[in-house]
Amino acid sequence: MQLGVLAERAEGEKRVALTPDCAKILKGKGFSVLVEMGAGERAGFTDAAYQEAGAEIAPNGAAVIAAAEIVLKVLGPADGSASSEAAGFREGSTLISFLFPASNLETVQTLASRKVTSFAMDLIPRITRAQSMDALSSMSTIAGYRGALLGAEHLPKFFPMFMTAAGTIPPAKVFVIGAGVAGLQAIATCKRLGAIVEAFDVRPAVKEQVESLGARFAEMPHVMDEAEDASGYAKEVSGDTHALELEFIGSRMAKCDVVITTALIPGKPAPTLITKAMVHRMARGSVIVDLAATNGGNCEATVPGQTVVEGGVTVVGSTSLLSDMASDASRMYSRNIMEFLLNLAPEGVMGLNMEDPIIHDTLVTRDGAVVHEPTRLRLEGKR
Ligand code: NAI
Repeated sequence: MQLGVLAERAEGEKRVALTPDCAKILKGKGFSVLVEMGAGERAGFTDAAYQEAGAEIAPNGAAVIAAAEIVLKVLGPADGSASSEAAGFREGSTLISFLFPASNLETVQTLASRKVTSFAMDLIPRITRAQSMDALSSMSTIAGYRGALLGAEHLPKFFPMFMTAAGTIPPAKVFVIGAGVAGLQAIATCKRLGAIVEAFDVRPAVKEQVESLGARFAEMPHVMDEAEDASGYAKEVSGDTHALELEFIGSRMAKCDVVITTALIPGKPAPTLITKAMVHRMARGSVIVDLAATNGGNCEATVPGQTVVEGGVTVVGSTSLLSDMASDASRMYSRNIMEFLLNLAPEGVMGLNMEDPIIHDTLVTRDGAVVHEPTRLRLEGKR
């Protein structure tokens, strides 16, 4: 089966969907691999490395699309308009990439009209068998790590305690809001750097995980009772509870040097948990790293893609956390997509076993139709 790896076209995107080591493994499993010239260059993977791994190099994206039965990408085609990347896919081919179909309806429609079979890596179900394919968790791990480093970089203080001839310098105090995948990694990284870490999440289940990393869990029982749904995910809270939560977070922030905020409610814009007034309660020189910046941000002062200063506090709204770690981000994504492929096409032959939840949940378009139910309902205006 012929695989094609396209270079990413989005501005600033440095990742690549498949790394040479995975290309080699896939070769051994009966796949052929064709890589667009220079596709891995910005992540540190040269054309020569792909060739050594047994892949072939195509002069451009068109040659990859013309030959490949399955096209691998990191980001989905940016928009679905007739002139976009989506419209260029060959009829009958398969695309595997991040797609976020519910927010990219036009792209999904174009893929369906081109009769492209598409799978969204962002829809991998969170089940044990699919853990090695969970690309969202891979990317959140990177975001959490980078977020901690950015906090340390922008803070004009040490993270660890320093005992020097010039006196003892206390460790930095970090407050992490949201202890999901990114938050837990931010906690672990800040701990490794020697900071004192406190974390808050509306899901009581994460208390144990936070404490196992050596951080303190800040409890707010009123909010925690209301903010978890029956399946254990965070949900939006009422106005009064939200106000209580902001007061609680604001009082914590006033005592710390760095806030790393990662709060996310599945399928919703990022909740606003830090107002500008709360930013002003922090000491000058403090830092807020808003990992939710790509989703609108958890902090009112965040400007996505920029670092700004609000009331003497540095607010980091980086949207390039993953590209800034392009080498390992590509390695992790490549492993995830390889495991997905090996489940989808064992022995190099693709079978669409719709009884398999991994295939069922990730399949977005097939035979000219949008088959992913939530996306289809949204397209029909029913959601
Ligand atoms: P996750 O769903 O694993 O964790 C989010 C956590 O926020 C959950 O534990 C949830 O309970 C908590 N939460 C929700 N509402 C809350 C509230 N009101 N107060 C306190 N906690 C609350 O999500 P994950 O994967 O850790 O992602 C976290 C953030 O990082 C997201 O905003 C995501 O978009 C962002 N991210 C950014 C990337 C980038 O490139 N900039 C890459 C990956 C993730």
